[in-house]
Amino acid sequence: MTTASGPDSVIAVTTGTGVGGRLRSPEAETEMTGVLGFGGYVPDRVMTNADWAEVVDTTDEWITTRTGIKERRFAADDEATLDLAAHAAERAMQDAGIGPADIGEIIVATDTPEVYTPDTASFLQHRLGCGNVPAYDLGGSGCAGFVQGLDVARARIAFAPRNVLVVGVELISRLISWKERETCVLFGDGAGAVVLGPDAGHAELLDVVAGTDGSMTGILTLSTGGTRDPFTIETAKSGAHQHLEMNGREVFKQAVTRMSAAVLEVLDRVDRSVADVALVVPHQANKRIIDAVTRRLGVDDGVTFVNVDYFGNTGSASVPLGLWQAREQGRVANGDLVILTAFGAGFHWAAAAIQF
Ligand code: UT7
Repeated sequence: MTTASGPDSVIAVTTGTGVGGRLRSPEAETEMTGVLGFGGYVPDRVMTNADWAEVVDTTDEWITTRTGIKERRFAADDEATLDLAAHAAERAMQDAGIGPADIGEIIVATDTPEVYTPDTASFLQHRLGCGNVPAYDLGGSGCAGFVQGLDVARARIAFAPRNVLVVGVELISRLISWKERETCVLFGDGAGAVVLGPDAGHAELLDVVAGTDGSMTGILTLSTGGTRDPFTIETAKSGAHQHLEMNGREVFKQAVTRMSAAVLEVLDRVDRSVADVALVVPHQANKRIIDAVTRRLGVDDGVTFVNVDYFGNTGSASVPLGLWQAREQGRVANGDLVILTAFGAGFHWAAAAIQF
């Protein structure tokens, strides 16, 4: 077995460690991606619209009518991204009936990492007590990161079967400005996770579609802190490092168009129609966006899952958190076809079809 660099190198390295479950050769490709476990976590601290009205010039009425958000959860002072991710991951592993030694790969989607480098996935691998399996972040993928992570995970499982932990986590409250009312009231903290694997679980991940329009990086960006505009004392003083530039109306328009189209595309790929869908779990950014997607797809209101009123926009955590909560609430039964759809800074979009 060679350890040369290239797409196969991580497989070569992990094969020798004997950790993280079974690994097979590409010839043994599997079509099955099971969803073995679901997990979610939100911090205890509730920040209501009335609380925000004491911090910035806003009202419960403005936030409610424009976004549908009534409250969101914020992490405690002693919590960081890793804590949120670990709680959700532990619940997903418990639901899957597996332990840390059974995890063969870890993908963490987040734009609000534990530290700048290394990635949150490395910290999570150690915290959970997994073996020295591949672990990496999908960073900067905005709110679409978790569903993109599902796409990567299923390809990895097809190539070399192993259990992949996919986490979406965001601790946005600590990294964005608390002075800019246009953005600060929209977000909340949380985490969601699934364990995917080559075996039948609670459900099967049938397919995932994903796309990016890189000409739209400017409509949603936090641009200070990279090599183009490094973090300095001046940027810190001006708050530029926390300034989320957002063209709200353009993001709104793109979100509706791209999420709806991605749902139809993934349905087409699995040879099913909108009429077959029991539940759509869309990215929870704004109730008006969710309603517009619901109308565009022509599904009943009850088919679309909504928790943006309680959690706000939790970025990459939003879809897995919704999926976990929907299942906890008994909204998903055996035989149900569930569709996930998300959009985010990039501009990225993705959708997944899950058969329970
Ligand atoms: O995960 C991706 C994250 N981003 C999104 O999903 C954003 C998508 N876009 C949206 O959700 C909506 O565009 C917003 C909720 C951001 C804004 O809603 P809108 O209906 O597009 O509002 P608007 O831009 O038409 O209204 C803006 C007005 C401005 O006042 P003027 O200039 O019309 O007098 C703002 O100053 O609302 C004002 N405003 C606020 N007023 C009270 C902006 N934020 C607030 C606020 N409280 N928090």
